[in-house]
Amino acid sequence: MKDFTVENLTEEVIKAYSANTASPRMREIFTALITHLHGFVKDVQLTEPEWFTAIEFLTNTGKKCDDKRQEFILLSDTLGVSMLVDAINHPKGGIGTESTVLGPFFVPGAPDLPHGADIRRRHLDEAETCLVTGRVTDQNGQALAGATLEVWQTAANGFYDVQDASAPEWNLRGRFTTNADGEYALVTEKPVSYPVPTDGPVGRMLDAAGRHAFRPAHLHFMVKADGCEPLITHVFVNGDPYLDSDAVFATKESLVGDFTRSSDAAEAARFGIKAPYSRLAFDFGLMRR
Ligand code: BEZ
Ligand code: FE
Repeated sequence: MKDFTVENLTEEVIKAYSANTASPRMREIFTALITHLHGFVKDVQLTEPEWFTAIEFLTNTGKKCDDKRQEFILLSDTLGVSMLVDAINHPKGGIGTESTVLGPFFVPGAPDLPHGADIRRRHLDEAETCLVTGRVTDQNGQALAGATLEVWQTAANGFYDVQDASAPEWNLRGRFTTNADGEYALVTEKPVSYPVPTDGPVGRMLDAAGRHAFRPAHLHFMVKADGCEPLITHVFVNGDPYLDSDAVFATKESLVGDFTRSSDAAEAARFGIKAPYSRLAFDFGLMRR
């Protein structure tokens, strides 16, 4: 038997997690995890009350999760971990549209909607009607017919449907399919900037760091086509005051779109909306596998 000390414990724990771990990748992950976790505790000389505060923080983070709330994703997002994983897995400089975080508010199974459909299931007075159109192509600019685009966003009151008991189910969510020319079109409301949820442990962490909780206004997209890598991304609103201080570090220059003001009465009539309206044109490029 051996006495464990500050000097030998890390090495002993790594050995215990390597000896019978068949997968080389799991061994690599265990070794790095234990090295960094122990290194952190040693670096800051963690006290027992601090250790317990961390245990309570993680416990409360878990307790805040349910089928509609993912506080652990929010924790990962606000610590920049989600964007680090994104940046490692989708390095800049590639061709095709850049990706960004999924976020905690994606809900699988959004209703399939026809070309040009309106995803608003209620109309808030403060909301500005917005027409969004574009094309989905592969990285060489070849149109992708039959690609699907799932879209989701907050309402003008700053809440996703799943955060707002008064919102109709699937409000501001839908799945569209591109036509033979790879085109999509949808009607929605212009997105607004909004705070990430601050009524849980993550909110207290942001407070402790003196950080604001806002995300610049954006639309979320998940774009898929046969034979291509799926794309998870946002389109941000050019001019938003939070573009330079996103609470979750998820902005990218190439994902900023121009939401212009249009008075095109003929186009408005085609989509069953009133002019003037907000207008975004944004194309997506997917990478072939
Ligand atoms: C979102 O954009 O929905 C989001 C992303 C990360 C954290 C919170 C919200
Ligand atoms: Fe969002």
